[in-house]
Amino acid sequence: MKNSKRKEMLQTVMWKEDSVFMIDQTKLPTRLVYVKCKKYEDVVNAIKNMVVRGAPAIGISAAFGLALAAKSSNARTRTKLMSDLCRAYEELRSTRPTAVNLFWGLDRVMGKAKTGKNLLEIKSGILSEAKKMAKEDIQTNMEMGINGAGLLYDGDTVMTHCNAGALATSAYGTALGVIRAAKDAGKLIRVIATETRPVMQGSRLTTYELHHDNIDVTLIPDTAVGHIMSRGQIKCVIVGADRILRSGHVFNKIGTYQIALMARFHKVPFYVAAPMSTFDFKSDLGDVPIEQRLEDEVLKIGKKRIAAKGVHAFNPAFDVTPPELISGIITERGVLTPPFNFRQESLVGKNEKIRTLKMKLSNPSII
Ligand code: MRU
Repeated sequence: MKNSKRKEMLQTVMWKEDSVFMIDQTKLPTRLVYVKCKKYEDVVNAIKNMVVRGAPAIGISAAFGLALAAKSSNARTRTKLMSDLCRAYEELRSTRPTAVNLFWGLDRVMGKAKTGKNLLEIKSGILSEAKKMAKEDIQTNMEMGINGAGLLYDGDTVMTHCNAGALATSAYGTALGVIRAAKDAGKLIRVIATETRPVMQGSRLTTYELHHDNIDVTLIPDTAVGHIMSRGQIKCVIVGADRILRSGHVFNKIGTYQIALMARFHKVPFYVAAPMSTFDFKSDLGDVPIEQRLEDEVLKIGKKRIAAKGVHAFNPAFDVTPPELISGIITERGVLTPPFNFRQESLVGKNEKIRTLKMKLSNPSII
């Protein structure tokens, strides 16, 4: 169905009743329920346990976590309040290591806190900065969506991996935001979503939110990617990112790299959609830790063990896609095309002009 009406937009993280409310993503797709975080420690646990996940969503949740820490502090001096905030900052920072948006969100709010002259100013400054970030995130995603929608044609089938949607952001999504924007522009887009073993963000979350918005989605096993591409059924791949280095290396959910390799082999354009807050202009490839998760996520499906007792598993949560495999990076400032060699000044400076933003629409096969 073309342009069918979308239900109310899923809002993943929000500030309400002096608390942080977030969709409990561990309960999806069976139940859509919100958890209420009253203390920053609740946010720490929510990020660690993947109640909230996805790079932009954890950055915003952590920012709200600092607002909770400020609210609950009974410090009487500026120094004591800043030391309470530093403790919360360190705990929130240590929740997950790979997505740079977490550190970006925390640093932005701490930067704001440092400008406060007194307790009241610090506390209210933190909260308003975190709220601003949540609001900006939606705007950013919509701009990214408009920039990326030009790459899609009516009738295209797009493959995506993991969940880079409303559930990974405040709302609307990055990769899935591009698909939403194309749909809003009147194009019929079909989506092929991978399951994304072992945490199943594709089957549990991506199919849930696309179905919620009446977007045609088909779930495939991770192992079917090559087969489907070889049949010429995929027009392009769009994924999100947890961190993008100045060299153009993209850290994203485990499995992304092999999809990019298969896309290159089959001459399918491979796009990454991510906001500027996902760019890390300082780190080099070897500096970025790849989160290692529990063996049980691989050894079991739900509670049921699927490997013999005594067998070990290796469970890296992210991998790195090299720039040579990336056709374009869709941002709120436009679409960046290779060769990538980003400098912070050229991308986020005040009078920035993004290097090159228009793909040749007459030539969608850009490889
Ligand atoms: O482990 P997760 O679910 O937090 O991993 C999420 C991803 O890898 C997403 O693709 C990425 O954060 C981009 S979200 C817009």
